[in-house]
Amino acid sequence: MTNFPRGRKKKWPVAVLGATGAVGQMFVRLLADHPWFELKELAASERSAGKKYGDVVRWLEGDAPSREVMQRRVTACEAGVVSAPIVFSALDAAVAGEVELAFARAGKIVLSNAKNFRMEPDVPLVIPEVNADHMALLECQRRNRGWEGAIVTNANCSATVAAVALAPLHQSFGIQQLFLSTMQAVSGAGYPGVPSLDILGNVIPYIADEEPKLEREMLKLLGTYADDEITSAAFKVSAHTNRVPVEHGHTICMTIGFESPPTPEAAISAMRGWEGSEVTKGLPSRPEHPLVVSDALDRPQPKRDVNAGDGMTVTVGRVRRDAVLDLRLVALGHNTVRGAAGGSVLNAELLAFTGALDKA
Ligand SMILES: NC(=O)c1ccc[n+]([C@@H]2O[C@H](COP(=O)([O-])OP(=O)(O)OC[C@H]3O[C@@H](n4cnc5c(N)ncnc54)[C@H](OP(=O)(O)O)[C@@H]3O)[C@@H](O)[C@H]2O)c1
Repeated sequence: MTNFPRGRKKKWPVAVLGATGAVGQMFVRLLADHPWFELKELAASERSAGKKYGDVVRWLEGDAPSREVMQRRVTACEAGVVSAPIVFSALDAAVAGEVELAFARAGKIVLSNAKNFRMEPDVPLVIPEVNADHMALLECQRRNRGWEGAIVTNANCSATVAAVALAPLHQSFGIQQLFLSTMQAVSGAGYPGVPSLDILGNVIPYIADEEPKLEREMLKLLGTYADDEITSAAFKVSAHTNRVPVEHGHTICMTIGFESPPTPEAAISAMRGWEGSEVTKGLPSRPEHPLVVSDALDRPQPKRDVNAGDGMTVTVGRVRRDAVLDLRLVALGHNTVRGAAGGSVLNAELLAFTGALDKA
C-alpha cells in the first residue's frame, strides 16, 4: 500500500512532453512504478503524434517499457489535448518556450528540463536538497502571470552536479571564486546527438551555450530567497565545458577560493555531514545520500560511480589543497537522472509533499 502525502488517496496523473527523446525515455523509466504519480500520456512532435509509442521511440537503454506503454498513441504537445494536470517537459529548447507557456496558461503544473524559463525572476530553479525554499517563488509567479498553472525548472545538468557538490561548502565557508572544467557525456546532447565520427577518440572543447548557462544557473541555485526574490550568489565563476566520449555522467574538475578557506579535511567533513534540506527526507526519489565523498585516489569515474544512489547521488573525490586558490576537487553526477528526469521528478515530489499539487 502506497503512502501518499497529505491524505491523498490516489496517484496524480502525469504526462511527459518530449517522451521519445533521451530525457523523455528516462522519465518513462522513472515513472513506470512511481508510488505517487501515474504516467497517463506520452506526447512528442507532430512527427510522432498519432503513432504508437513503440513505433516511434528508439529505446536507448535498459528494459523497454511495458507492452501497454509501447502500444499507447503518442499525442501532440498541446494543452487542449493532454489531460493530465501535471506535465514533465523533456522538450527541445527550440519549442519548449511556447509549449510550456501554453500548458501553464491552461492551468497545468509544468516541470521543465529546458533552459527557456530557468532564469526568469519568478520561476523557481530547484534542486530540492540544495534550495527547496526557492519553490516559494511560485506564489509570486501566479500573482505576476495571473495563472493557476506553474512552471518549475531544474537546472542544466552540469550546473546541477556542481551545485550539489558545492552547496555544503558555500554554506560553511563562503565561496568567493570558482573555476570549473567539465567532461560531459554524449547522452547530454540527446539522441542522436553528436555524430559518432566526431566524438569517438576525441574531445570537443565547445558545447553551444553551455558555459554561460552553467555560470549563471549555479549562482541562482546557490542564491537566497527572500520577499519573492532570489538574490544570486555573488562569487566569480569561470567555466570551460567539453564533450567527451563517455556514455553517461558529467565529470567536473573544480578549483575554489573561499572567504574562510577550509582545510581539505574540514571541507570533506562539511560535505559528508551535509544531508540537504530537511523537507526532502522521505521523498521517494531522494537518495539516502545526495552527496558522497570517495577516499579513493582515482575516483569518481563515470564507469564506476555514475549510478550511485540510482543515479541521484553526486560523487566527489580528490579533495586537496590548491596553490592558486584554496581547494581542488572532482565531482560526478548522472546527467539524464540527477541532471534531468530524476531531478524533475524529485521537484514534483516536493510540490506534492508541500501541498502545491493538492488541487491537481
Ligand atoms: N540529455 C541531457 O542530459 C539533458 C540534461 C538536462 C536537460 N536537458 C534538456 O532536456 C530537453 C530534452 O533533451 P533530450 O536530450 O532528451 O533531447 P532529444 O533526445 O533531442 O529529445 C527531444 C524531444 O523533443 C521532441 N520535440 C522536438 N521537436 C518538437 C516539436 N516541434 N514539438 C513537440 N515535441 C518536439 C522530440 O520528439 P520527436 O521524437 O517526435 O521528434 C523528442 O521527444 C532539452 O531541452 C535539453 O536541453 C537534457
